[in-house]
Amino acid sequence: MTKARPPIAMLAELTHRCPLSCPYCSNPIEMARQDAELSTEEWKSVFAQAADLGVLQLHLSGGEPATRRDLEDLVQAAREAGLYTNLITSGIGLTERRLKALDAAGLDHVQLSLQGTTPEMADEIGGYKGGFKRKMQVAEWIAEIGFPLTLNAVLHRRNLHQLPRALEMAVEMGARRIEVATVQFHGWALKNRDALMPTREQAAEATRIVQEARLRLKGTLVIDYVPADYHSDYPKRCMGGWGSTGLNVAPDGQVLPCHAAQTIPHLRFDNVRERPLSEIWYDGAAFNAYRGTDWMPEPCSSCERKTVDFGGCRCQAMALAGDPAATDPVCIKSPHHVDLQARADAHAAAEYAALIYRSAPGKAPEPAE
Ligand code: SF4
Ligand code: FES
Repeated sequence: MTKARPPIAMLAELTHRCPLSCPYCSNPIEMARQDAELSTEEWKSVFAQAADLGVLQLHLSGGEPATRRDLEDLVQAAREAGLYTNLITSGIGLTERRLKALDAAGLDHVQLSLQGTTPEMADEIGGYKGGFKRKMQVAEWIAEIGFPLTLNAVLHRRNLHQLPRALEMAVEMGARRIEVATVQFHGWALKNRDALMPTREQAAEATRIVQEARLRLKGTLVIDYVPADYHSDYPKRCMGGWGSTGLNVAPDGQVLPCHAAQTIPHLRFDNVRERPLSEIWYDGAAFNAYRGTDWMPEPCSSCERKTVDFGGCRCQAMALAGDPAATDPVCIKSPHHVDLQARADAHAAAEYAALIYRSAPGKAPEPAE
């Protein structure tokens, strides 16, 4: 068995409640209900355990983390544990007063999502009228307080033409970094492939725009890029390799090797309510299932790229090939690759399809002010 190193980053999904209904939501189809969420004290214990384990960066996510009324307390506890704290938010629910309280609590960084660069696009994709206007206000407060900012633009067939404007907006907002993420088809997003799959031409154009902007904006803006992987020949190194650098804690305390791991039916997940985080990381069955390279079948096991991409994404292999141990079908060496490319082209050529919005039993009303 591969000896694990300590994780570097932890994603704390504080809640699945969210005021938006994005059709590409990556949260599981079955979401944790509010009454199952970890309490403030339980999260504080998880943060202290994470720091002891070696975690350096804590990403506070959701759903919408601002929906948690104890967010400021949680940030403070994480900072006291010595963790670098990053808030991943849509901005909805963040007032100037709350942002100042988060600053006082020690929040280090904000990552703001962008559903579109116009109110029409952003509000349609997020399914939240007035969301864009509020987000722009939140961006101003973020700049005034001086939080380092990353913009997270999720792109797909409907809004890929807005990529140049998204880059401009990042510069105007004073962001240090933008994540240009072509939509990943996990969880709810799988229902929207006909509506959201980019065309092959769009995917190539996005790559060209990113390459040009990286040169032009060198020293001003760092651009992270997640290309349209259905149109690629090699898969992404998902999670930096399973169980190698990061872990996710779901709202109900289940500890996951990645955000979509619950789509792999045979895996059983430990819970921080029942087992110390360190034991879960090193000895948990789910973390050891695809750690390292020993589990790999051919063609991955003899491939020169096996420690480059670790066979791609286990959840994508599950969703597209029905086998989480299979080579990610994005890979040109996968027997499913040709079929996947044909399916991607068919989704991209589909007639205008209505968006199927994320719906949830735990749908958040207005987040705490
Ligand atoms: Fe990566 Fe496996 Fe494809 Fe090789 S065969 S490139 S290891 S996914
Ligand atoms: Fe689970 Fe890629 S999302 S391994």
